[in-house]
Formats: sequence, structure tokens, C-alpha cells
Amino acid sequence: MRRGSIVALLGIALIAGGVATAVALLPTWLPEAASREAGRIDFVFWFVIAICIAIFAVVVAAMVYAVARFRVREDDFEDGPPIHGHTGLEITWTVIPFVLVTSIAIVSAIVLSRNDAQARDTLRVNVTAQQFAFTFNYPDAKNVTSPVLRLPEGRSVELYMRSLDVIHSVFVPQFGQKEDIVPGLVTQLHITPDRLGTFPLECTELCGLGHSLMRTEAIVMKPAAFDAWLRQQGKGAAPAPPTSTTSTTSTTSTTSSPSASGLSVFNANGCSTCHTLSAAKASGKVGPDLDNLVAYAKQAHQPLTAFVHQSIVDPNAYVQPTFPKGVMPQNFGQTLSKTQLDALVTFLVQSAQHSGKQKGSKKG
Ligand code: CUA
Repeated sequence: MRRGSIVALLGIALIAGGVATAVALLPTWLPEAASREAGRIDFVFWFVIAICIAIFAVVVAAMVYAVARFRVREDDFEDGPPIHGHTGLEITWTVIPFVLVTSIAIVSAIVLSRNDAQARDTLRVNVTAQQFAFTFNYPDAKNVTSPVLRLPEGRSVELYMRSLDVIHSVFVPQFGQKEDIVPGLVTQLHITPDRLGTFPLECTELCGLGHSLMRTEAIVMKPAAFDAWLRQQGKGAAPAPPTSTTSTTSTTSTTSSPSASGLSVFNANGCSTCHTLSAAKASGKVGPDLDNLVAYAKQAHQPLTAFVHQSIVDPNAYVQPTFPKGVMPQNFGQTLSKTQLDALVTFLVQSAQHSGKQKGSKKG
């Protein structure tokens, strides 16, 4: 090959590689990693991208050079020279891709196994997904339950995820990982958060009408702040035995009045995703407006409390006209305890009567 040709090939390769590198680096394609796993995954991503840019540059150089140098001249109807092949070239273009693909496989396997490796003090979090909310439960801390995923910075965390209805998928872009939650299975996801902050946590599996609203947050906290939060929640969440009158914790806790715990049941079970209820500052539009429960109960010809109870445990028994059947989850009768259900019903009845009165007074 002439020296000029080599210079031309190199020049084209450098330009093509430079353009591809600029496209790869100038826009911010990936969110800033907030977990060790995301950092490793980003490394695999850039490792593969670098290989792709190199191959792209070589292919573009060969193509552009061949098109320019070997194009057919005018009035040239000759056949090309008979060529059998080039053993050296063929070995080269087999060995190089083999080495590259194998190295990608090895790097990925190392990252996968390190990402799944739990530390000895791994924090366990049980995740429950249902249409259309996530609930996070900390079994080692008095079963504290939260609608937001709070994690301590720097600690290995394993999510054990269950679905109560259909397939969901959990995704925090800054953690770099995504895992489906499948009915009948317990799927797992290992995270070691390494940056403080609040990050979006969303469902990424089309799971029904409220799918786009099935989102919450992952909050990475300083370990001390996280422990303090767990302790605080543990106090409030301590289930007050219904027969006990001597409980000292419930008298100091502000969350033990029926309407307050009804509100927390409302929030923890994702009701606010789909329903409007001013008492809970909820503005969901997927399901009926719960500020109008008094009117709905009249339309259904039922007493208010019985109507609210039935609408939670057997939502298809009466569906408000203009709303489709079968959207509201039908398993709250199983997933809520009797105490939770009663608190929720009481809360809804009280706030419905309250907002009914307000509307009435505005009219008059
Ligand atoms: Cu759950 Cu989409």
C-alpha cells in the first residue's frame, strides 16, 4: 500500500472517530451515578462505546477510501481483477472481533458478579408493588413501612420484591438498574447507594391505567439520619393492640388517632395515585373523586360507611358511572388488616362528610 493511501485512511479514521467521540461525550447521556453498581455499569457502557467508536472509525475509513479510490471511471466496462481472498486479512478480522467480544463478556461477567455480591451487613427491604403504588418495608426494623424508599449511604441493600397483581418494574435511573416484579415470584435487586440525594423511583412496566403515575422517590440519607428515621418510624408504626388501654407509646404518638392512621393507610397503599381527596392532599384523576363519597353513596342507595367499606374490598360491586370496572385493585380485602381497613373507612367517611359540609356551606 502506498504511503499516501495509509495517510488518507488514517485521516478519515481520525475524523470519523473524533465525530463519534464528540457525539458520545458532549451530551450527558447517563444520569450521574448514585450507587456503586451504577458506577460499574457505566464503566461497562463506556468500555463498549470506546470499542464501538474504534470499529466505527476503521469501517468508515475503509468505506470512504474505497468509494473514492476504486470508483468506476467513465467508459470503464472491464471486469475487476480475479481475487481469491487474503488469508492474513481474514485472520485479522476474525481474531480482533473475537478478542473484543470476549473481553466485553469478561468485563460484564465481573461487573455482574460484583454488583450482586451482598456485604455481610446487607440491609433487607421488602418491596410490594400493586396497581399503582410501591410500598417499602424494613423487616429488621420493627417492620417499618414507607411509601418512599429510604436508604443509608454506603450500605449494601437488597430489595426483595413481590407483586400483588400484575407485572411491575422498579427503576431508579441514578442507580442504573431495573428489575421486574412478577406475581408469584420474589425478585431481588442489590444496591449500594453512594451519593446523598432524592432520586425518582418509577414503574417501568405498563401495568394499567395508573402506570404513568406509579412513581415515588428513593432518598439516600446519612446512615445516622437513616437510623434516626427508622427509630422514629418504629415508634409511630408500633401497632397499638386494640385491647390494650395501658399503652404508653400510643398516647405520645400523634399518628395513632383513627383519622391520622387512616391517612397513613391511604398514603401507604397508593390510593392518592388514583383518587382525589382534599383531606389527603391527593389529586389523582384515574378513579372517582373521594370528596364526593356522600353523593356516590346516595347514587348507590347505600349507607355511607357500608358503601365505603364495600368499595374498598369489592370495588366492582358498584362502580361510579363514567369510570371503568376492574381498574381498582380487588385485593385490598386481603392486603389490609382489619385495623387498617377500619381506620381507612373511618378516615374516608369523616373526610367525605367534612368536605360534603364545606360544599354545602359554600352553596348557602
Ligand atoms: Cu406498575 Cu407500571
